[in-house]
Formats: sequence, C-alpha cells, structure tokens
Amino acid sequence: MAKYKIAWLPGDGVGNDVMEATRIVLDALKFDAEYIHGDIGWEFWIHEGEPLPQRTIDMMKTTNAALFGAITSKPKEEADEELIPELKGKGLVYFSPIVRLRQEFNLHTNLRPCKAYPGNPLNLKEGIDLVVFRENTEGMYGGVEFHPIPQEVFDTLSKHHPKMKKFGKWGLENLAMSTRIMSRQMCRNIVTQAFEYAKKFNYKSVTVVDKPNVLRETGGLMVRTAREVAKNYPGIDLWETNIDAQTMWLVKNPMDYGVMVAENMFGDIISDLAAQLVGGLGFASSGNIGDNYAVFEPTHGSAPKYAGKYKVNPMAMFLTAKLMLDWLNEKADADRLEAAIAKVIKEGKARTYDMGGSNTTLEMAEAVAQKL
Ligand code: IPM
Ligand code: MG
Repeated sequence: MAKYKIAWLPGDGVGNDVMEATRIVLDALKFDAEYIHGDIGWEFWIHEGEPLPQRTIDMMKTTNAALFGAITSKPKEEADEELIPELKGKGLVYFSPIVRLRQEFNLHTNLRPCKAYPGNPLNLKEGIDLVVFRENTEGMYGGVEFHPIPQEVFDTLSKHHPKMKKFGKWGLENLAMSTRIMSRQMCRNIVTQAFEYAKKFNYKSVTVVDKPNVLRETGGLMVRTAREVAKNYPGIDLWETNIDAQTMWLVKNPMDYGVMVAENMFGDIISDLAAQLVGGLGFASSGNIGDNYAVFEPTHGSAPKYAGKYKVNPMAMFLTAKLMLDWLNEKADADRLEAAIAKVIKEGKARTYDMGGSNTTLEMAEAVAQKL
C-alpha cells in the first residue's frame, strides 16, 4: 500500500494541463502515493447543478491531502444560463467549490509564498521573499449576503444602527448587502500562524494589512488582536498597514516585507500583487490548511482559452506540490523538488511563453524531472 492517499482534483481548464505535468514531477520524485481522482468544476455544475458533488467530499475524507488544479467561476446570471434545461430555473445557486472546500474542511489558513527564484526574467527584483497568510473561512468570504435585503433584516439593522435607515429610501429590492463577519478566534489564529512562521524562518517583522481607519470594527478587531499576539514574540516587530497604501509600498519597496497577514478578501488582493512581483500567477502556489487536512492549489485560475493547449506555466503547480510535501513532513522531497525547480529557472533553457520562451507545460515537467 502506498504511504499516502492524495485526492487528485484537476478541475477546469488548464487545471488539467498543470496537474498532468505535476504528476510527471511527483513520479520522478518517487513520491509514494496513491492518487484518487475527484469530480469538481464547471462541468458538474452544468450537468448536476453542483460543482462540488458530495461523492467528491466523501472521497476526500479518505485521503491525507488534496491537490487541486483550477476552477472556472462565473457570476450568477451566466452560471444559471449554462445549466442543462432540466436544471434551469430551479433556484440552484452557484457557489465557488474552492471557497466551499475551505469552509467544509475548515481550512482556516491560506499560505501563499512568493519567492523570486534567481534567473526568472519576470522577477521585479531579485531577492524578494514574501509570504502571505490569508484568513480563509470568514470575513468577506463568509457567504452571508442578501439581495434584496429582507424586510426583517432591514428593520433589525435599522433598529441597531442609525446609518442603516438612510438606505431605505432606495427600496429593499434595490439593495444588496455582503457582510464581513470576523471572529477574534480566527484573527488570533491567522496572526499566530504568521508569527510562528516568522519565528521559524527568521523573519524580522510581521505586517498586518487591513483598513481599520474605515472598517473600525472588523479591521479594528484584526489589528487589536495582532497587537496582543505580537506580545508573545518579542524579537519580531508588528507593522500595521492599510490595504490601499500597502499595495503601493509593496510595488515600491518589495524587499521591506517578509510575512504578511490579512483577512480573507484583503489577503486575496495582496497575494495576487505579491505573486506578480515574482513572476505572476505562473509562480504563485498556495496551501489551504486546516488542523488535519489541507488542499493545495496554485493561485491562478482556469484560463479557459489555454485549456488543453499545454501552454501555461506549471511552475505554480510544482511549487504547490512542494508545499504539500512540506505539510506532509516529507521535508527531503520538498527540498529536492524546490531545488530542481530553482535549477530549471536559473538555467533558463526551459521557459514557457510567459517567461519569453516557447516550451510546453509538459516540457517544463520533463526539465524539472531531469534535475531530480
Ligand atoms: C484565490 C481565487 C479564489 C478566491 C476564487 C477563484 C474564488 O481568487 O484563491 O485567490 O477568491 O479566493
Ligand atoms: Mg485570488
């Protein structure tokens, strides 16, 4: 029997291309795993009205971790339009399967490292080495949304908050509301993980990114909690920044930052920006990590126009596999894989189109496999 069971979830579009490439690399590594395919993605929305079928969740529960490729998501109207006729108009609501997985498995921590591997022509600057800790289950992704706002909800909010009333003049059918609900526990959890990481890898500071000058309650809770946590880490400074200014500073002085921590939506934004500093989404890996289970996925989307063309850069997916190996405590394999990836980047002989080359997704896999 193999040492690990890994749920294999290619999903949509180029998710399939990069996962196929990753398999070549994992096999070259002789990683001892059984891979179990799971249905997930747009196809299952169209035909079953459910992009994440229950059978996939059940299967995942029998595995140690999951590798996930990419997913297509579309706004409400378009999603409904594409359903097969039998399912149309039934009130089915599309919900992003990756967001659901994060909640279903309580994968509270989204870890997104962004490292400038020497020789990558896309690096903004050599030496950038950042990691974003993104709270992964709450905040603006909590899913508590209304349109229209039900009368009862409006009345209750108006009773408790004077600012609510003024919206009434538009008529409830014209009002939409998405909430940002955050708990002290989850703020503490994500900030603590950021500090622990800083301690383990010798970073001098942790930057908490929010907008407490405007989002006084949620942003305030995040920052106040961060200050409390910081007291337990005397050698590490806590920097507090606002999301808007932070985007500017990150482009201007990327070397100043090491570990960053943010609420779900702000973490989503800042991690795309951080990824671009080190070559864009072709290099951005991520881990959705819970207490006993984790789902690893590249930060990029499904890029439908490139699907099946073996054109996109699989490095993000390889680095994602490396994160999985780290999490499984297969440190030696993780290091070997990262070293092989770094060598291929440094040599610059194999490059996909985004790096100015013409190699295919699978040729990149062969190049990395050779180094292994
Ligand atoms: C990400 C993606 C997802 C998110 C989308 C696909 C729902 O942008 O993982 O960053 O917003 O979290
Ligand atoms: Mg994102």
